[in-house]
Parts: sequence; C-alpha cells; structure tokens
Amino acid sequence: MANIANRQWRLISRPQGSLTEANFEFSTHPVDELHTGEVLVKNDLISLDPSSRIWTNAQESYMPPVAIGDVMRSINVGTVVKSLNPKFDQGALVTGLTGWQDYAVMNGDNLSKLPPTPSFEKEVYLTVLSHIGLTAYFGLLDVGGAKSGETLVVSAAAGAVGSLVGQIGRLRGMRVVGIAGSDEKCAWITQSLGFDTAINYKTQNLMQELRKACPRGIDVDFENVGGDILNCALALINQKARIVLCGYISGYNLNKPEHGPANIANMVGKRARMEGFIVTDYLPRASQGYAALGKWLAEGSLKYAVDWVDGLEKAPVALNRLFNGANIGKLIVRV
Ligand SMILES: NC(=O)c1ccc[n+]([C@@H]2O[C@H](COP(=O)([O-])OP(=O)(O)OC[C@H]3O[C@@H](n4cnc5c(N)ncnc54)[C@H](OP(=O)(O)O)[C@@H]3O)[C@@H](O)[C@H]2O)c1
Repeated sequence: MANIANRQWRLISRPQGSLTEANFEFSTHPVDELHTGEVLVKNDLISLDPSSRIWTNAQESYMPPVAIGDVMRSINVGTVVKSLNPKFDQGALVTGLTGWQDYAVMNGDNLSKLPPTPSFEKEVYLTVLSHIGLTAYFGLLDVGGAKSGETLVVSAAAGAVGSLVGQIGRLRGMRVVGIAGSDEKCAWITQSLGFDTAINYKTQNLMQELRKACPRGIDVDFENVGGDILNCALALINQKARIVLCGYISGYNLNKPEHGPANIANMVGKRARMEGFIVTDYLPRASQGYAALGKWLAEGSLKYAVDWVDGLEKAPVALNRLFNGANIGKLIVRV
C-alpha cells in the first residue's frame, strides 16, 4: 500500500537515565501490503505507560525489550481500515500492541475487538476498561485482599492506576490515604474521587503526615512508587499487612538500583506479605474485572481523568510527564 504514508517512532538507542527524543527516530514509510489473515489498523489513541520506559532497556523484564530499530511498543486503541481476516470487519474498534505509529499491519491473533457501538468514550478502553483498570482491580482485591474497615495507602495516587485503586478501596469500605506530588492532585483525589485524605510528599513531611493519616496503622500498601515512600509505609504496617508491589517508578530511570527500604525488617514481626504481580497474570479473569469496573463506571461511582497529548510526534517527550509528575490521570496520545 505504497499510497499510505506511515509515520513511525523507532528506538535507535537505549536511554541512560530519562529517555529523550534522541533515543528514537521519527520517519515515514509506506504501509506494507496485507497478506491473508492480516488487518490494517489506524491508531487513534496511544497509551504511554511507565512500562514503556522499562521496555527501552536491554534487560529482559516481563516482556522482551524493544529491539533497536523496532517501532516503539504501546497498547493502543485503533480502527480497522482494511481487513483480510474474517474476524475483523472494516470500521471495527480494536485494541492491541500496535505501537508508536499511524498504522499497523497486524496478525488478527494479537488484536482484540472492542464493543462495536461503544457505550463509553474511546479512552475508556485505555483507562477503566483496560490493563489499567484490571491492574487496580485485581491488584487491590486479589493480591491485596482488601477488606472493609481496613486502611489502604496508595502512592502515585492521582495517576492512572492509583486513582482507580483509591476509588475501589472506598467502594469496598476502606479508609483510603493517597500520596501524590502536588496540591492540585491531592485536591482532586479527595474532593472529586472521595479519598479520605491525601499527602503531598513533595511539600509535606511524609513520615509525620502518614502517621497522622493512618492512626490505626496500614493494612494494605498499594505501592506504585517504591523508594522512600515504600520505606515510610513499611514503618506503619499492621499485623498481617499486605504490600502490593504494583510498580517501582522511582527506580525506572536509575542506571543502578538503589538500596532497598531499611524498614523492611518490620515485616517479620508484623507477619506481613509483600507480593509483586503483573496484570497479564489476570487476563484469564479479565471478563470478571471488566464486568465490575464497567458497572461502577456506568453508575458513576468510578471516575477517571485523561492527560491528553495531541500528536504522534510528541510521544517520546510526552512519556516523561509520567516521571516528572505532570500527568493527572492516564497519559494518552491522540494520534
Ligand atoms: N504490575 C502491573 O501489571 C502494572 C500495570 C500498570 C502499571 N503498573 C505500575 O503502576 C505504577 C503507576 O502506573 P500508571 O500507569 O498509573 O502511571 P501514573 O501513576 O499515571 O504516572 C506515574 C506517576 O508516578 C509518580 N512518580 C513518578 N516518578 C516518581 C518518583 N520518583 N517518586 C514518586 N512518585 C513518582 C508521578 O506522580 P506524583 O506527581 O504523585 O509524583 C506520576 O504522575 C507504575 O509503577 C507502573 O509501572 C504496574
């Protein structure tokens, strides 16, 4: 399809510290001809995730690194514009790892159809009804074993995952304490999302404020950040506390891992459990998560925000919004 021009961001070097635009090349290529079984997807929305930074490293993580020269990986929502696969009609709304580009030629096996007449805005399929919603739902309820009356602490609380975790905690009858990096974020999560209280870790004394905010200790720490925030939470855990290691964003731009949290020894006497997980572990149970999340969303008891960036050309620079804390809610590029 030589007549269709496809702008692409390809990884050309591995970042040291924060990634920069220079780690990528922006170039235009014609779209490849489709073979039987293949589908041409036009990307509409690109999800920028902290894991995007992890995928640019040479080390194997829960997914292989993006190879040098390859189009940068991302989960997107797009529209089928041409199909040689009977499972996908032209015009179908789809989601998959279609990358930082205008178009992707996909084998139908690695693409999922979204509801034909979406009852929600498209971005819902990169927020509540996506890997983000499932991470919050299964991370808190399954890994965290959240119970009514318990105290939940969430870090990166005004981000995509954290903002949902806190709301699900409230729906489950927990006392919810959010930790976030600005007064605007703290106001949003308490005034609009119903968190019981919030701490600005950049301007307040975190240990002191966390102690005040959790007079009965911490039962579940939903950890998105790690580092000093995790260390403070560990100092206040209750007997049989659960520390859900969802992410460790404070370490993603470091070239060498920092030393572990000094308060980890507290876990012994508290018989606490710390467990990492990856949302893909829960894909076999995704329909259960989507049913609950979709119901809450339709009822208006679960809210989300999007930090919109316009233009594929801005993707690499925009990704750093996750690391300097500029985003409120889910960071999405409108292609
Ligand atoms: N386990 C899984 O399957 C899974 C799936 C999805 C996401 N995750 C993880 O969940 C976490 C949140 O992801 P997300 O997509 O929802 O991103 P997000 O929370 O929307 O954005 C990241 C936020 O992290 C905070 N942050 C960044 N660097 C920080 C630092 N050095 N210290 C403290 N806070 C920092 C910033 O908020 P502040 O302004 O508050 O600092 C920023 O807004 C990440 O760790 C991610 O890797 C895990």
